[in-house]
Amino acid sequence: MSEVNPRVADYPIDRQFLERWSPRAFTGEPVPENELRTMFEAARWAPSSSNLQPWRFLYARQGTPHFEKFLALLVDGNKVWAKNAGALVVLISKTTQPVSGTDKVAPSRTHSFDTGTAWGYLALEAMRLGWAAHAMAGFHVERTIVDLGIPEDYRPEAAIAIGRRDDKSILPEYLQAREEPNSRRPQRDFVSEGGFPPPDRRPEQF
Ligand SMILES: Cc1cc2nc3c(=O)[nH]c(=O)nc-3n(C[C@H](O)[C@H](O)[C@H](O)COP(=O)(O)O)c2cc1C
Repeated sequence: MSEVNPRVADYPIDRQFLERWSPRAFTGEPVPENELRTMFEAARWAPSSSNLQPWRFLYARQGTPHFEKFLALLVDGNKVWAKNAGALVVLISKTTQPVSGTDKVAPSRTHSFDTGTAWGYLALEAMRLGWAAHAMAGFHVERTIVDLGIPEDYRPEAAIAIGRRDDKSILPEYLQAREEPNSRRPQRDFVSEGGFPPPDRRPEQF
């Protein structure tokens, strides 16, 4: 798809951060196994607390018997477009970690944080390879746990559709209007030197 990306950074950053976005119009072309592996490899090198690497990626490629099972986990509003993904991924994280010097485990405080970083790396690598990755919170968590056989000390974090972009005309009209890179709030709404901004100097959105 060639189009003008309207995103503008307020400070100089690498183009990849502006060029990654979450489209919904996909061609249905299956993602080749080796390219998926390259995306998971980027995720593999994410930092994590104590290098525990709590992320686990479960996946299904378009055209395999697994794909329909993964698609069925999504809410209808996501199924309508994600059915044309080249692969679907369910990203889960391990919620416990070993207590050093013992055979016990304790709750992890960072499993979701670490796993979010891994998702970000995957998304950037997918884009570099010419694919788009679109995260989804809209999936049935309990059904996902049962249907994918996820043990109790793992938390489903997100589903991810990965696909080759198609023209937005393939989408229902209400989604066509949203099929473009969106923008972001300015830094004053989420960055503060020295501590949380006091009420009299706090931007409304902080
Ligand atoms: C954890 C997470 C959950 C999301 N859930 C959905 C979803 O269920 N359906 C959807 O269409 N988009 C979903 N999105 C996409 C966001 O709406 C999108 O990332 C956000 O608007 C920023 O746009 P961009 O990714 O194009 O930069 C999700 C994104 C994230 C990171």
